[in-house]
Amino acid sequence: MSKQTAQFTCTACGEKHRKWAGKCDACGGWNTIIEEAPLSSGPKSMGAKGRTIPLTDLATEEAPPPRAGSGLEELDRVLGGGLVPASAILVGGDPGIGKSTLLLQATAAFARRGLKCLYISGEEASAQVRMRAQRLGLADAPVQLGAETSLRDILTTLDAERPDLAVIDSIQTMWLDTVDAAPGSVSQVRAAAHELVTFAKRRGVAVILVGHVTKEGQIAGPRVVEHMVDTVLYFEGERGHQFRILRAVKNRFGPADEIGVFEMTGNGLAQVTNPSALFLSDRGTATPGSAVFAGIEGTRPVLTEIQALVAPSNLGTPRRTVVGLDSGRLSTILAVLEARCGIPFAGLDVFLNVAGGMRVSEPAADLAVAAALLSAREDVALPPDMVLFGEISLSGALRPVGQTENRLKEASKLGFSQAIAPERSKLGADTGMKLRQMPDLTAFVGEMFGAG
Ligand code: TYD
Ligand code: MG
Repeated sequence: MSKQTAQFTCTACGEKHRKWAGKCDACGGWNTIIEEAPLSSGPKSMGAKGRTIPLTDLATEEAPPPRAGSGLEELDRVLGGGLVPASAILVGGDPGIGKSTLLLQATAAFARRGLKCLYISGEEASAQVRMRAQRLGLADAPVQLGAETSLRDILTTLDAERPDLAVIDSIQTMWLDTVDAAPGSVSQVRAAAHELVTFAKRRGVAVILVGHVTKEGQIAGPRVVEHMVDTVLYFEGERGHQFRILRAVKNRFGPADEIGVFEMTGNGLAQVTNPSALFLSDRGTATPGSAVFAGIEGTRPVLTEIQALVAPSNLGTPRRTVVGLDSGRLSTILAVLEARCGIPFAGLDVFLNVAGGMRVSEPAADLAVAAALLSAREDVALPPDMVLFGEISLSGALRPVGQTENRLKEASKLGFSQAIAPERSKLGADTGMKLRQMPDLTAFVGEMFGAG
């Protein structure tokens, strides 16, 4: 018998180590290595011969996967056009953000469309789930409920029932009796996810796994779970805000970066089909420090308001506080404004915020960020009917971004009438917007704020 020794695994990248260390050499993460119980059997010897696997060529025609729509348009779009049979989906999010609510509503919607759906909760009793369903007006949906954490029993049940969709809420509560570790530990989560994903593929059952997120914002458990599944969705939102964003960060069956917007109401999650109106809703009259960014989220244009506040600092190192944007991007834009346009922010505290709790990651937001910063610094309001977009390069040049026409159309639809964009932006049809194209940041500063 082989000697069983403890094994150490990095929770961030899944790399195995022979002994504990403060830093993982594979991914460079600190304090991510934890001890795991050894697997009960060692790896099999490679002496035995395997079977030959069937091979095909690339030209073999493959029909696109049939998809089942839930009728919840915001969800279907994020899934890439509906649920793909036998796919494995991971939905991550902070505790209390509304994952269980979303998935209960989704399961009910799929069940009403004729899919056989099972909802297994490892966190709540069936009665609790049923009460919630009643409150959400879903009691009549033909969903079958189960409250269980033993994966062996769950797999046996799924094998007997053969549903079209099984929701497992949550993967951290599941445990396998073959793995000698506590539920929620890396080895349990990895083994449970592996069992469920292989089951999904083998038996043609779509599974949705709910995953909790750590303080650092990653799905708790090893990163390998994200690699195992076909689709990873994050359900995000700011605590003080009503709305929630379902974001595809990985999708083997559709575009990543697609978002669905929901609003948490007393009766569960309601779809928000026109998010721009929502993110801009509390915009009053023109105020210094505010700029509207015409962005693209996935396949959909979304307008968001970028707000900046610039104030004299009494600290040695002035504050740079950012919500909803990358703080590195802010530093870059501040540096470009200083070096290329001669506008320093030294000795000034800078606060930057995307209104409404939205997160913006597109580089196209650079120009709107710079505009908000300048507007706050100069105390000059931008015209309230103006949107901006464009990437700022380190030289201070404005670089064109994609989908100019979609951005302008959305802005026009929401009552905006002028836009500032980089030179050489590709334009198709007339959008009814007055468009000014600028070569660089210096030209923009000169035009909007005088000589700069
Ligand atoms: P839940 O779906 O249990 O979150 P998770 O599964 O991500 O932990 O959602 C819990 C929160 O949602 C809770 O704070 C109450 C709120 N909520 C509503 O505001 N309205 C509703 O109709 C429901 C069901 C929940
Ligand atoms: Mg829950």
